[in-house]
Amino acid sequence: MATQETGHAQGAAPATPPAAGRAAYLMCPPDFYAIDYVINPWMEGNVGRTCPEAATGQWRRLYDRIRGEGGEVELLRPVPGRPDLVFTANAGLALGGKALAAHFRHRERQAEEPIYKEWFEGRGFEVVELPRGIYFEGAGDALPDRGADLLWLGYGIRTVLDACVYVAEEFDIEVVPLRLVDPRFYHLDTCLAPLAGGRMLYYPAAFDERSRRLIETRVSADRRLAVGELDALHFACNCVEIGSTLILHDCSEALERRLAEWDYAVARITLSEFLLAGGSARCLCLRLNEGRAPRAAAPRTEYARRTVSFQGHLLDSGLLAEVLDLITRGGGTFETLEFRPGPRHEDPSYLRLAIGAPTAGALDQLLAHLMQQGGRLDEGERQPAQLAVVEQDGVAPEDFYSTTIYPTDVCVGGGWVRVSGQRMDGVIVVDEGGGDSAATARVVLMRDLRRGQKVVVGVEGLRVHATTEAREERGEFRFMASAVSSERRVEQAVEAIAWEMRQIRRRGGRIVWVPGPVVVHTGGIPYLCELARRGYVQAVLAGNALAVHDIELALYGTSLGVDLRRGVALHGGHRHHLKAINAIRRCGGIAAAVGQGMLGGGLMYELVRHRIPFSLAGSIRDDGPLPETRMNLIDAQAEYARLLEGAEMIMMLSTMLHSIGVGNMTPAGVKMVCVDINPAVATKLADRGSFESRPVVTDVGLFLNLLARKIESLEAESRQGE
Ligand code: ARG
Repeated sequence: MATQETGHAQGAAPATPPAAGRAAYLMCPPDFYAIDYVINPWMEGNVGRTCPEAATGQWRRLYDRIRGEGGEVELLRPVPGRPDLVFTANAGLALGGKALAAHFRHRERQAEEPIYKEWFEGRGFEVVELPRGIYFEGAGDALPDRGADLLWLGYGIRTVLDACVYVAEEFDIEVVPLRLVDPRFYHLDTCLAPLAGGRMLYYPAAFDERSRRLIETRVSADRRLAVGELDALHFACNCVEIGSTLILHDCSEALERRLAEWDYAVARITLSEFLLAGGSARCLCLRLNEGRAPRAAAPRTEYARRTVSFQGHLLDSGLLAEVLDLITRGGGTFETLEFRPGPRHEDPSYLRLAIGAPTAGALDQLLAHLMQQGGRLDEGERQPAQLAVVEQDGVAPEDFYSTTIYPTDVCVGGGWVRVSGQRMDGVIVVDEGGGDSAATARVVLMRDLRRGQKVVVGVEGLRVHATTEAREERGEFRFMASAVSSERRVEQAVEAIAWEMRQIRRRGGRIVWVPGPVVVHTGGIPYLCELARRGYVQAVLAGNALAVHDIELALYGTSLGVDLRRGVALHGGHRHHLKAINAIRRCGGIAAAVGQGMLGGGLMYELVRHRIPFSLAGSIRDDGPLPETRMNLIDAQAEYARLLEGAEMIMMLSTMLHSIGVGNMTPAGVKMVCVDINPAVATKLADRGSFESRPVVTDVGLFLNLLARKIESLEAESRQGE
């Protein structure tokens, strides 16, 4: 490329940056353009594949077209061994005579930094730089809006979120960070183009959900145009707008027609050689004199940052990976301020992270998650919990903190108050006390909120005691769950569970059972009855169906019409469960049926006979129901919660809905066993955001049989020992 014909040598340039007026661009002839390395998915397989003549021709046509449309072009002298220097959009962000120099993420392009910087300086720009480690790839990721006084910043692949603070400060402009999630659209200018009058072209799938919503709220529907994947892959968004012309590599006719409605003419310039490296028209030129809309009074950036620390078995438990992943997936960034790995298996590690998020709200959400993983807001920053007043019965204030299963403290009036009634998915109601009465805090369900109550909002002044021991065990259980559950494994699990049950009963603890109707179908009832008689059942939480089939079995020997002793379906047997319901209804209820001698066996019979409390919660598919079944689900939830109080162990037997319901009401520290033949269900239950919970993948009837035998032999052994 004949640089001398088009450009002025560096140094000979006028020493003031181009003023507003004709659009001025910086371009770099592709004399040394090539694909020498791979730093984006486009470059894969293309090393050494470019054709210098073709590239030069294509670049030249772009250059001519920009000038033909009235644009001014200044040239940067190409440098051997710097193949990506042609993509001048990444040189930095030039706005109002100031240039924020790029810090490239990849070492391959870091070598370009001094070249761009020198050019900016020689051209009279005031050059500013970011701290080390704050990656920022210039106008490739920083696009001023052309209607409002704001700047869109792409982050997550090349540029880091934290850059938005510096951009906002240096240019005194509102910065709206957008997270890029598709590696093919690694720079913001590959998937979004702000156009004159506040219009915008963008490819929605390149962004995360929050960013998409942000675009949709900041740019009205009539001013934004979502392009399809094909147009996006043709780099339609990577266009150069000069007057009413959009210069781009290629786009569909449909998109062209829609742009025509906005009075744009599309000028196609083939740039296939540059597409091989993942760049197109806009990447090849840096706008030097972008105009600014009148200053808005908006805050410069909503970016928020906070320090959190973790202590525990971060490495072997996999918690470290989990935490970092959570932050990134949540659209945030982290900076490790301190990390001390525990030198040996039994030593805990210590980690302190600065966490950044695009908005204060997003940060709170992230922090709430991290606190659930054992994260602590930095001590020095401890503040009283923020409270908001309930204004409508049954409705929580916006930004309410939602509870977890872990013990939680709230900072009220300068001291920590332990929250009572811990369970997940509730809110915390605080009574600040006064006079002689101390402050209190308790978990309340949204529907039970009353006007005037004070509810904790945000995450300030909260301390969650998520124990790392629990997490270690959980890791172990997960391993158990993922391994195919051999018979020996089930036996081992039964042994451990039986031992645990004996311990609990010795100290008078409570074991609550949550059986599904499968317990009846698989022949588990006699064993569960035996366990009830031996004193291992302190409450039963179930649905209508469990009781119905249990009673059907007691009265007719069938379960859903199947003869359980012979395993064959009886002719007309499907009516049995309806007959059972009818018989109980005639008596006035289960307890009455037992009293009248009508019902003489089965689980429900044993429960009534031994005065073991039970609750039957109704559902939409219930037949009958039995008189005892609570069809008012709020009452049923309340009764479940009451029967769960003080439980030390919960046996969930092949019922997904009742188990999940119970899991939601249960604080951390309660042992849960989830038995299901379907590994997905067993692990799903065991994995629900928590707990000290053990999946056992097996037939529930066999499981109960094994368990009853194990308990029997343990009891026999201990009698012998006496
Ligand atoms: N190969 C270059 C890279 O991966 C292409 C840069 C394209 N520039 C742009 N503004 N999108 O960095």
